[in-house]
Amino acid sequence: MTINKKDKLWWKTATIYQIYPKSFCDSGAQGSGDIKGIISKLDYLKTLGIDAIWLTPVYESPMIDNGYDISDYYAINPEFGTMADFDELLAAAHQRGIRIVMDIVVNHTSTAHAWFQSALGDKNSPYRDYYIWKDPIYGQAPTNWQSKFGGNAWELDEATGQYYLHLFAKEQADLNWENPKVREEVKGIISYWADKGVDGFRLDVINLISKQQDFPNDEIGDGRRFYTDGPRVHEYLQEISEAVFQQYGSVTVGEMSSTTLEHCQQYSNVDNSELSMVFNFHHLKVDYTNGEKWTNAPFDFLQLKSIFNHWQTGLNGKGWGALFWCNHDQPRIVSRLGDDKNYRVESAKMLAASVHMMQGTPYIYQGEEIGMTNPGYTDIEQYRDVESTNMYQLMVEEQGVSHPDMMDILAQKSRDNSRTPMQWNSAMNAGFSEGKPWLDVAKNYVDINAEKALQDKDSVFYFYKRLIELRKEVAVITQGDYTDLLPEHERVFAYQRKTETQTLVSINNYYGETSEVELPNELELDKAQLLLGNYPDEQSHIPSNTVTLRPYETKILLIE
Ligand code: GLC
Repeated sequence: MTINKKDKLWWKTATIYQIYPKSFCDSGAQGSGDIKGIISKLDYLKTLGIDAIWLTPVYESPMIDNGYDISDYYAINPEFGTMADFDELLAAAHQRGIRIVMDIVVNHTSTAHAWFQSALGDKNSPYRDYYIWKDPIYGQAPTNWQSKFGGNAWELDEATGQYYLHLFAKEQADLNWENPKVREEVKGIISYWADKGVDGFRLDVINLISKQQDFPNDEIGDGRRFYTDGPRVHEYLQEISEAVFQQYGSVTVGEMSSTTLEHCQQYSNVDNSELSMVFNFHHLKVDYTNGEKWTNAPFDFLQLKSIFNHWQTGLNGKGWGALFWCNHDQPRIVSRLGDDKNYRVESAKMLAASVHMMQGTPYIYQGEEIGMTNPGYTDIEQYRDVESTNMYQLMVEEQGVSHPDMMDILAQKSRDNSRTPMQWNSAMNAGFSEGKPWLDVAKNYVDINAEKALQDKDSVFYFYKRLIELRKEVAVITQGDYTDLLPEHERVFAYQRKTETQTLVSINNYYGETSEVELPNELELDKAQLLLGNYPDEQSHIPSNTVTLRPYETKILLIE
């Protein structure tokens, strides 16, 4: 299969696979993954059938936030390899018909970046205005805005007495997009990678780039309303899109933090004036108590369905969304909404089917395709993530949360849950590395690994493979309207996708008990063909509109 450059809308029937290089595959014994390791697994990805790889940052970086703190946008981090390795990866992926989407992190740079190093301590530096500096107010930080990783979002530059803004770690300084030179730099960076032949870009927290310029204190919140989907964000995206994305025909996906449907309709407008598609995270907050991530709560199933309904109906015909459960910032979905003990395989497949049959472009995060779970760490020393370690310190040492409570919360919410090394086989270190892994491997790798999955035709892996194929075979999956068939049902998520000629029904039991549901008679389920299910003894025919679902059962039906 070769890449058809003329097909500008290829991503509408595509599935994209996310690689977190540090945890994917180590070609040697350094204990963390590298680009050569990725090249060695391209055939595995080819077997899965994905169309593109989203590669999280591989640029030069001090790795405070594992590459989301970039110190040189034009260089490869030696931990991952060389520019020659990167070029080889790009060519080897293209040879197999797999596209490459790079991660672009331009809301902020690392404080180790040459621009920041020049700006720091020098108000006259030509790079000072690349960042956001403010005088203290009454000897304190200029506003009460909170960093997403805990604590105040401003850090003092002692030499000049001014503060710089960092919405993430203090080693990640926010860029000043008001400065046209910054925008020119961003165009230069993206063009450099597009010139190399990279096919697209994932834009990190891109809806935070435009800050309200009077920088008010936030009396009712953490400050996010003054920079989320900010005043000039659409203008900036249109400028970059026109100058770069449209010139190269790049696919683009924007990561949108705490966004709204209205903004996302514009970001992913079908006129292609901004981006191809958007990630939003509202469906992954259904297990937060009062919107607070660092809590443990059972998930709110009715809310989950209502959020999907809002986005599926709201983007249809207007924009385009990414479909996903997992990424490097989210715990493993089978541990989160499924049952990773008693029904791991069934629930992993059901969860996959329930998002893959929606409208949008599905993303699979490494290991999701074999049903990898959270590792269940019990020792704080096992965590590496800057957000988790900051939060531990803040909540235990400053806010008085008990150590065991915080360990429970981290075991469910930490980003390290998804960053454990990819489980390739049952050999030492799960076949990930010949050296000691940078983050402990989940102990269940002996049973859950890619080698085993490839040998079992009923594995989660082959279920994902089939979902990827179905998206290419059955037009209604891309085109159909969306209707929730049972919005009030407490255990079953059933929706319909419909075009003039096809109706697809996806029925999913989200719980470990059998459920019987009554679907609308108009559906003519007696004419339905079963496209895919997750129990081996499936009947290919559904005799009536009363459907019984076993624990975590999913059925995908097509009526033509
Ligand atoms: C995004 C990334 C996350 C990173 C943050 C700051 O949310 O996905 O990993 O920490 O941006 O760059």
